[in-house]
Amino acid sequence: MKILVTGAAGFIGSNLCDYLLTQGAQVAGVDNFSTGHREFLAQATAHKKFEFHEVDLLDFERTRETLAAFTPETVVHLAANADVRFGLQHPRKDLDQGTVVTFNVLESARLAGVKKFAFASTGSVYGEPVIFPTPETCPFPVQTSLYAAAKLAAEGLIAAYAEGYGMKGYIFRFVSILGDRYSHGHVFDFANKLHANSANIEVLGDGKQTKAYLHVSDCVAAIWHVLGSCNEKVNLFNLGPDEYITVDQSLDIICKVMGMHPKRQYTGGKRGWTGDSPFIFLDCARLKATGWKARKTISESVELTIRYLLGNDWLLKRR
Ligand SMILES: NC(=O)c1ccc[n+]([C@@H]2O[C@H](COP(=O)([O-])OP(=O)(O)OC[C@H]3O[C@@H](n4cnc5c(N)ncnc54)[C@H](O)[C@@H]3O)[C@@H](O)[C@H]2O)c1
Repeated sequence: MKILVTGAAGFIGSNLCDYLLTQGAQVAGVDNFSTGHREFLAQATAHKKFEFHEVDLLDFERTRETLAAFTPETVVHLAANADVRFGLQHPRKDLDQGTVVTFNVLESARLAGVKKFAFASTGSVYGEPVIFPTPETCPFPVQTSLYAAAKLAAEGLIAAYAEGYGMKGYIFRFVSILGDRYSHGHVFDFANKLHANSANIEVLGDGKQTKAYLHVSDCVAAIWHVLGSCNEKVNLFNLGPDEYITVDQSLDIICKVMGMHPKRQYTGGKRGWTGDSPFIFLDCARLKATGWKARKTISESVELTIRYLLGNDWLLKRR
């Protein structure tokens, strides 16, 4: 099977490429290295069934040509600005990277005869929901970030393409993902701060924000599993674990692994930043009913992630 992965040099994309290659797929990775790293592709590029294309997916012609040349059966579209936090500082970026890029890849996929189009959406589309755990059917009238608003628009495009052109859509609303090659998010920020100063640490918000996290190995296994077993016109799934953890509890694990005892200084308030959701816990019953389940706990995932960052401090230094 030929699968094209966008965002292949990123955290999740590079893990997915490695996983797909172990499953016997022929894989084309596409990335422009805006936040991805060449180092993340080392394992994949050593594989004879992998090819890489450096393309900025905002360039429609280059995107179309790349998909036309590879003619994949399936596209997994992961390329985006993956950082939800700084949206208000660059109001056009999420529209371009989250929505316009998705359109470019989707239209190129249609022209290339792609049968299945998978997309990394986010649990942030629920804004601040009132139902916990939050099912896919939960109403979400209010968007709280430009990142999620752009993802939601992209979800709409995929559903319309599935309806209009017969291509099958696979939409995954991820919680935050942890694991090897993790390069942005709260564990990264804490590790970075503790690297610079082990005596004090600033915690955004009150430290009581409560969130679910999933290990990247469980995430890529879920994508593969769903692509192989679900065949609705639009296959929409929350993707996360059955548990959650507070920011303070997560910091406890990080400090323990790093052997540090910093004094915590809280910026205060229920949210770390405008648009931060104080409680994220998705109902993943729909996905579990297909036979998938998470193998790693959140505590294990936090610990593995911090150990990975400590062993790869070039990532912290490069930021
Ligand atoms: N990591 C998470 O916790 C998380 C949670 C929910 C959703 N997601 C989504 O999953 C996807 C992957 O996230 P990630 O954590 O691996 O992020 P990442 O930043 O590590 O990977 C994104 C990749 O896309 C590439 N890219 C961005 N714009 C591009 C463009 N115009 N052309 C070509 N390549 C481009 C980047 O260089 C990078 O390699 C994203 O769509 C993100 O929004 C991630």
